[in-house]
Amino acid sequence: MSGEDFNITVSFQHRIRFTRAAFAPGNRLVAELLETRGRSKVLVFVEKGLRGFFPQLEGEIQDYFSDLSGLRLTGVEWLAGGEEAKRDAQVYQDAMAAIERHHIDRHSYVVVIGGGAFLDVIGFAAATGHRGVRLVRFPTTTLSQDDSGVGVKNGINAFGKKNFIGAFAVPYAVVNDFRFLHTQPELTRRAGLIEAVKVALVRDGEFFDWMEENLEGLRSLDEATLEEAVQRSAIHHARHIAQGGDPFELGSSRPLDYGHWAAHKLEQLTDFELSHGEAVSVGVALDTLYAAKVGLLNADDAERVLKVIEGLELPVWHEALELRDSKGRRRVFNGLEEFREHLGGELTVLLLKEPGVGMDVHEIDEAVWDDCAEELKRRALSPASN
Ligand SMILES: NC(=O)c1ccc[n+]([C@@H]2O[C@H](COP(=O)([O-])OP(=O)(O)OC[C@H]3O[C@@H](n4cnc5c(N)ncnc54)[C@H](O)[C@@H]3O)[C@@H](O)[C@H]2O)c1
Ligand SMILES: [Zn+2]
Repeated sequence: MSGEDFNITVSFQHRIRFTRAAFAPGNRLVAELLETRGRSKVLVFVEKGLRGFFPQLEGEIQDYFSDLSGLRLTGVEWLAGGEEAKRDAQVYQDAMAAIERHHIDRHSYVVVIGGGAFLDVIGFAAATGHRGVRLVRFPTTTLSQDDSGVGVKNGINAFGKKNFIGAFAVPYAVVNDFRFLHTQPELTRRAGLIEAVKVALVRDGEFFDWMEENLEGLRSLDEATLEEAVQRSAIHHARHIAQGGDPFELGSSRPLDYGHWAAHKLEQLTDFELSHGEAVSVGVALDTLYAAKVGLLNADDAERVLKVIEGLELPVWHEALELRDSKGRRRVFNGLEEFREHLGGELTVLLLKEPGVGMDVHEIDEAVWDDCAEELKRRALSPASN
């Protein structure tokens, strides 16, 4: 036998920027962010649903690029977004056809403006067209600005499974334009905040304290408070991806997936009626209470976490937790098996020791978890007693 191992190291720059009205005349951020070679082409995809909220956007984008000598806008394409866009390959194929039609090459840019679902689809087209063209993301929801948009995952659903077809690809840049945050439907605006709570709980106790202190501002979706939460959360997520040692998720430890094993299953059990943010909210409540019941987390700290979730008017419980299989076992528990499979065999679930400090465990006691679901049900159905 013979052979040799080679080490291939590729380094990526992960550029995260914050601004307001990126395409307003005089905003130099995009002009300075995009590297120009001759006249690099730029193809912009915008989620169709945004047209009613930002009727001037296409004109602003055209004017912005017409003033730049090094970049040439080849078109603005409006495609459907939301979870529907990930259900089959139609929007992906339309995006790919546009990338081909506009002769986008590896020195060009695909710019995508939309919610997390739209970013996932267009990002997947950008990651696979020409085996990867440069992608600039403009997330437009709380969840996509404070979490998914600053990440490195793209994909669409298939075989009834979320994100079954996809690719890890580091975007060229992410521009969080706060202007988009304040037109979202109220629940979307609010639900994405759970990812900020999550990242605070697993990485930064002081950020959690700040959320507690600013709970009223967050609850009322006060613009400045929401923007600060989004910015701090986005930086935490990006830092974890860049410095956490496992950007492409090869290992089994996933702190950013705190509360997510139940969440993913709840989304599926409700046929995605429950949004990702709401499902994560229930998942975080459950795993937090669980840590207290097994003696890892102080009961007062668990109560603080539940109070923050409730203060944000997000759910700590959902009726889909009651769904049971023919043996009477809660169907959500299948989520544990699926999570184990997804991780490659070994179950690793992060539990909290204190706000800001987590610990990986490899077993979950279903009976204890069952008690947590019951307790949260009582709490959710009689909120006055809390
Ligand atoms: N890639 C990842 O790492 C990752 C991580 C978490 C979640 N996700 C995915 O993200 C998706 C959820 O993303 P989301 O919460 O952003 O929801 P979404 O993309 O489904 O958008 C929610 C709704 O808000 C509308 N909308 C978006 N921006 C708006 C704005 N500025 N003003 C008015 N309306 C606006 C959309 O049209 C849509 O109807 C899911 O598909 C989930 O799987 C991906
Ligand atoms: Zn999430």
